Amino acid sequence: MTLIDGKQTAADIRLELKREVDSMLRQGMRPPHLAVVIVGHNPASETYVENKLKACREVGFLADKVALEADITEQQLLQTVERLNRDDEIDGFIVQLPLPDHISESRITQAIDWHKDVDGLHPHNVGLTALGQPSLVSATPKGIRELLSRYHIPTEGRHVVVVGRSNIVGKPMAMLLMQKPYLSLPKMSAAALGDATVTLCHSKTRNLKDICLTADILIVAVGQPALITADMVREGTVVIDVGINRIEDAVAPRGYRLVGDVDFKEVAPKCSYITPVPGGVGPMTIVSLLQNTLQARLNK
Ligand code: GUN
Repeated sequence: MTLIDGKQTAADIRLELKREVDSMLRQGMRPPHLAVVIVGHNPASETYVENKLKACREVGFLADKVALEADITEQQLLQTVERLNRDDEIDGFIVQLPLPDHISESRITQAIDWHKDVDGLHPHNVGLTALGQPSLVSATPKGIRELLSRYHIPTEGRHVVVVGRSNIVGKPMAMLLMQKPYLSLPKMSAAALGDATVTLCHSKTRNLKDICLTADILIVAVGQPALITADMVREGTVVIDVGINRIEDAVAPRGYRLVGDVDFKEVAPKCSYITPVPGGVGPMTIVSLLQNTLQARLNK
């Protein structure tokens, strides 16, 4: 069994991005520039945003935070989006989710200029991804594709079972892996991967266990601790665990620990490859955002 080290892979990619920025600077080019909009004071969102800004600055990107109060109107937020759309100095921006209940996330996402949509959530980018054309791809599936590529795990002709149908992970993951690979090579992307036979499972799927047992590659993004148990995984399967769940643990320093959707202890010995939680898929999501920001900069 090989552990897929997302932390190390993310560090390798950050180094590559830094070299790329250094080379841009030597040629007199402006470095990539990301803005992150945060509304309100959700502690988890504040931590995510600070981590994104820090990661940008470490690789030499310019990074701005646009902090707005929770009682801002949807119209005011739309005006901020418009201002960022028009600002030629900003290559890409994201509006951190979740937003307060009185603001429509889809209306905000759709107001973002899709060229600057480095979260890959705008319908135009989702559509391009579905068509197998160059697009800004949602961070988590992009990070998983990069992990498969860097660990030389082929997908051609293999049965990939994706558990979870979210717009942010499950659906784009399935689309990316079923594509003809030569159609899906944007600048700076991972090596092309695709040509898989993909089955997408969700909460209403019957015989989840039987389907999982036919997987060559099993990708789980549900948010349910220990959903995948050892009896659901065949010997030699590649397991990608996207779940990040907090479970109470009195002896852990913060009173909780993080676990994935896979019962790691029982499942890992059966796998050819597996991602740990934490330290697997998680660290790849911020580098995907950085890669998308560089891509938006180079696409100009
Ligand atoms: N909140 C949690 N994950 C994300 C993400 O990837 N993008 C945005 N905009 N908000 C998030």
